[in-house]
Amino acid sequence: MAGAKTMVKPGTLYGVGVGPGDPELMTVKAWRLITSAQVIAYLAANGGESTARNIAAPFFEKDVVEIIIDMPMKLDREIGKAAYDRGAAQIAASLADGRDVVVLCEGDPFFYGSFMYLFERLSPQFTTIVVPGITSISAAAAEMRVPLAARDDVLKILPATLPAEQLRTELTLCRSAAIIKVGRHFEKVKSVLSELGLVNSATSIEYATHGHQVIRKLGAINETTLPYFTTIIVRP
Ligand SMILES: C[S@@+](CC[C@H](N)C(=O)[O-])C[C@H]1O[C@@H](n2cnc3c(N)ncnc32)[C@H](O)[C@@H]1O
Repeated sequence: MAGAKTMVKPGTLYGVGVGPGDPELMTVKAWRLITSAQVIAYLAANGGESTARNIAAPFFEKDVVEIIIDMPMKLDREIGKAAYDRGAAQIAASLADGRDVVVLCEGDPFFYGSFMYLFERLSPQFTTIVVPGITSISAAAAEMRVPLAARDDVLKILPATLPAEQLRTELTLCRSAAIIKVGRHFEKVKSVLSELGLVNSATSIEYATHGHQVIRKLGAINETTLPYFTTIIVRP
């Protein structure tokens, strides 16, 4: 009938954890979705490379459409929100056209992952499936050969961005801790651990499970900053 519009069934949004670095540490489900995806989206900090893309790229279809969400790394949260708005709008356009979209997430999407900001914008409108991934914490413990927690131990995840005073308090109240987002906060973290007599119980891992992984005891590190992709495990 002239003028009649065909209804398009909207696509499904997938937030897919690709694991910490080694592509073999990806779930079979993540691999299946990535190898069959027509549209793949990911964040690129300051227009640079995307770690999640680097991990998953060997499995991309030849003619996959890539949506790159350029994320300016600025303290001003409004700039970040605007970037998520733009990325969500691009993804929404593909979904509305009936195409599924796979959003790649380093590690696990809901473990300090940026996918949650796309999830809150898009899941009210589109069917959304979250595929969990191996976190950096699990990878760090495995590579260091340090069990994270046993029996009634309390394990804390502490972002190194917290003020020194709060890190100190939190660390005195747990048996094991994983400190993430170390990067330029390393000097502060090391000084708190020294005050608490925990330096010899702390191990750092840079780029866990990537080809250029580095593991060091904290006492052996003289730099004041470490790469962003660094995790410290504290386990007396
Ligand atoms: C915003 S959080 C994202 C965590 C990620 N979604 C996950 O499941 O592990 C980023 C922090 O995770 C840690 N991280 C992520 N990947 C890592 C890796 N391969 N090696 C060491 N630390 C890593 C670092 O502390 C980094 O600053």
